[in-house]
Amino acid sequence: MLDALKDELLSLVNAAADLPALDEVRVNALGKKGRITGFMKELGGLSPDERKERGQALNALKDEIAAALDARKADLSAAHLKARLEAERVDVTLPIRPETEGRIHPISQTMDEMIAIFAEMGFAVAEGPDVEDDFHNFTALNFPVGHPARDMHDTFYLPDADDKKMLLRTHTSPVQVRTMLNNKPPIRIVAPGRTYRSDYDMTHTPMFHQIEGLVIDEATNMGHLKGCLVEFCRAFFDVDDLPLRFRPSFFPFTEPSAEVDIGCLRKGGELKLGNYGDWLEILGCGMVHPNVLEACGIDSTKYQGFAFGMGVERVAMLKYGIPDLRTFFEADLRWLKHYGFVPLDIPNIAHGLTR
Ligand code: DAH
Repeated sequence: MLDALKDELLSLVNAAADLPALDEVRVNALGKKGRITGFMKELGGLSPDERKERGQALNALKDEIAAALDARKADLSAAHLKARLEAERVDVTLPIRPETEGRIHPISQTMDEMIAIFAEMGFAVAEGPDVEDDFHNFTALNFPVGHPARDMHDTFYLPDADDKKMLLRTHTSPVQVRTMLNNKPPIRIVAPGRTYRSDYDMTHTPMFHQIEGLVIDEATNMGHLKGCLVEFCRAFFDVDDLPLRFRPSFFPFTEPSAEVDIGCLRKGGELKLGNYGDWLEILGCGMVHPNVLEACGIDSTKYQGFAFGMGVERVAMLKYGIPDLRTFFEADLRWLKHYGFVPLDIPNIAHGLTR
């Protein structure tokens, strides 16, 4: 009788077409209310000799069915995996889809390249709002009320809200303020984003982009600032011996302040970057002014650091030979096709920033 049960169960095991069906067979045979389990329960009513003999036979049957279940399970799992791999097969030798018509705007690409380089140096990305208040855009950055440096910014003012003077941020420096107010040193961030000034000609648009950098800790000095910017410019412009010149300058929020020039050659309307004796200004920087640290709740006797700010359009024009600033914002698809970037070429230090 057990032989008949064995044959039946084994054929059920072998007939199970998938893992759920197999599990059902297992439950029906070996589960709490399974058929073999049922016979086991009856052992108590037998004489000791009968019980011994029947018990051994049942145990042998149970082991055999369990082994058959395991073997079938292994077969079904392997078949399942094989079918899935087959179904999800990808031909990696196929060319990428030819229909990628869209292009990444040079501003986005340039910002991504900058972020890739600074990220490699350990900078995080910070952001702030385009609509700022006077405190974050000016006062906390050591522009006293009535200071002439405020007028240099051609600010777009908005109707006042809750007694606060609101404006479109004239630079990305207010993100420094927000970052210092909301985080404890050490701080190491870059803040790319839109900025606005009321100006329009060959070299100015009312909306443009900047990237801001800020490093605050207990020991960072002007040497670190120089090292960081030299590394950045050489990586970004991909010129290993690109010379940088730090010229004394003035910004209310840094002391000392400097403007940075990179080496270039101007010849017949062409511009070449490198060690040629001529210079081109590309960014402003300096050691964060103690007044700024204090306005942002940071102890200026304990902490110090550097900051820098750079125009994204300007360096994009230099790197990619784009002659007219205004074309960036004309949304001309022919221009974008020419100067834009293929979406799959994501800037990455290891694979090259631009290919
Ligand atoms: N915010 C300045 C501007 O828009 C640029 C700048 C200069 C930013 C020096 C800085 C800096 O962080 O240290 O003209």
